Amino acid sequence: MAYRGKNAVVTGGAGGIGLQVARQLLSNGAAKVAIIDLQDNLEEFVKLRAAHPTQSVMIIKMDVANRKGIEATYEEIVKTFGSIDIVVNVAGIFNDKDVQRTLLVNLGGIMNSTLSALQYMNKENGGNGGLIVNMSSVVGLDPMFIIPVYGATKAGIINFTRCLGNDQFYQRSGIKFVTVCPGATMTDMFTNFTEKIIFPETSDETYKILDRLNKQSATDVARCILSVLDKEKNGAVYVIEGKRVFPLELKQQWTGKEHA
Ligand SMILES: NC(=O)c1ccc[n+]([C@@H]2O[C@H](COP(=O)([O-])OP(=O)(O)OC[C@H]3O[C@@H](n4cnc5c(N)ncnc54)[C@H](O)[C@@H]3O)[C@@H](O)[C@H]2O)c1
Repeated sequence: MAYRGKNAVVTGGAGGIGLQVARQLLSNGAAKVAIIDLQDNLEEFVKLRAAHPTQSVMIIKMDVANRKGIEATYEEIVKTFGSIDIVVNVAGIFNDKDVQRTLLVNLGGIMNSTLSALQYMNKENGGNGGLIVNMSSVVGLDPMFIIPVYGATKAGIINFTRCLGNDQFYQRSGIKFVTVCPGATMTDMFTNFTEKIIFPETSDETYKILDRLNKQSATDVARCILSVLDKEKNGAVYVIEGKRVFPLELKQQWTGKEHA
């Protein structure tokens, strides 16, 4: 398994999908796991440490939108762990009414964490290389008209991660990049959902759509993310739906040729 004996960082690891990813990494033999999150979840962190007494669990309270703070956080993690092999960027929010914050956390946060991590993971800088997994969503692929702001940040994450998941960059850095796009998952993210959408007149339709969706658990999604870590396919984009994970066939749209 790609994560056995490895050092990992999980953003958004205090709750929801991120907490399950951190838990499963430890259960499956990761040596050291650092959790970066805005929130404390002391009860879960105590349980996590108690369940894995021989592994290191580091908790850092930090906002992924804070670029300087995230840079300092990675410096601290590398000082403590020695190196980083895996990063799973999960932290994200849903609040389409707060456009700035959604951009800064969902898109900015992924960029801050990815770009800080790769300084230390890059083989050219003395790192070990490794794998960075970024959390998008199925709504970053297929537009969902009720959540355009959130959807746009998730679409941006796919493009950002695919740009980095380029084999020329891999030859130099030894780092692979993968995007995961889960479908609806039962977590706290969509609490008070209709208060956070920009078109309240669509709330009835929104409820109907949400009711119809087949929802998976955070544990299922985390299990699929760990299977993606094992595949290590650079630049790949995976959909995680109905507890299953499958890669997308993405073909180049832009040829660069002139049309008559
Ligand atoms: N729940 C779903 O249906 C679903 C589907 C597809 C993708 N996602 C994505 O999965 C990720 C996790 O979502 P979830 O459903 O587990 O939500 P969640 O709200 O249960 O967990 C999100 C975690 O991220 C943390 N976080 C939020 N903002 C942060 C910040 N600025 N800095 C650091 N940590 C921060 C939270 O404190 C929380 O621990 C998000 O990126 C979300 O967009 C969720």
